[in-house]
Amino acid sequence: MPIGQRLTGGLRPNPGSTIRLARHEQVGWVLGVWIPCLIYAIVRYNVFQGVEWVHVPLYIVNKSVAFAGVILIALAYAVGKAFGGPAGSENVRAKAKFLGLAGFAMITVHILMAMVLLSPANYAKFFAESGKLNLTGEMTFLFGVLAYGCLLIPAIATLPYMYEALGMARWLTAQHMGYGTLALACGHTLAMGYKGWFDLASWPGSMPPITLLGFLAALAALLVKAAQLVRRGT
Ligand code: HEM
Repeated sequence: MPIGQRLTGGLRPNPGSTIRLARHEQVGWVLGVWIPCLIYAIVRYNVFQGVEWVHVPLYIVNKSVAFAGVILIALAYAVGKAFGGPAGSENVRAKAKFLGLAGFAMITVHILMAMVLLSPANYAKFFAESGKLNLTGEMTFLFGVLAYGCLLIPAIATLPYMYEALGMARWLTAQHMGYGTLALACGHTLAMGYKGWFDLASWPGSMPPITLLGFLAALAALLVKAAQLVRRGT
């Protein structure tokens, strides 16, 4: 009898849920991604751009969790393709599940923080003089909201026994919605940041903007998937 059936009395568990990553591995992934993002944000914005230190707790941490969140989601979709072991193995699926949920948690925190901070004083580039959103703001938040909407679907599909409830085809479709998140995250970061991407002289400390790095992380995972599809087709 397959191990999943033994554990669950006949119900098929979600792929990746019969293995749990060791605690040190979980902590290692989250801190190993987030701490460098936080250090990057502090060095770029506080040290080189002169953002006041009083804004570290929310404004700067928000940048770091957005950055870490998009990296974790990108890693969740690249694991088994670009690193981490054979695709489809229970170990790789468990890792993808953990990375995806960690990214989901980070992005949820990012959105809550962004909501608290959202004002012309913090983000002048998103607002018109009337105090309403300008086109950059409208496009940025449209992409952000749609990206999060797509992310909710694979997150919900990781709830216990969703594989049994949805069946394999719909469960896989739900997981693939994460690629929508990655594509829309590219739109989110492009809409808010592209004007500064090519003006290298304006980069504090010659450090690329986090919008550009977040865009590249999401794009890299999409390219890894595209390469896999091309390989399968040939
Ligand atoms: C309701 C949805 C969302 C809202 C309201 C929102 C809001 C924001 C805001 C206000 C910023 C600017 C932060 C700053 O310049 O300090 C931002 C940046 C960013 N967001 Fe979002 N976001 C949303 C969803 C997402 C999602 C789903 C992702 C990724 C999967 C994401 C990834 C990023 C990244 C990587 C940045 C760049 C960080 C930076 O340069 O500061 N966001 N977001």
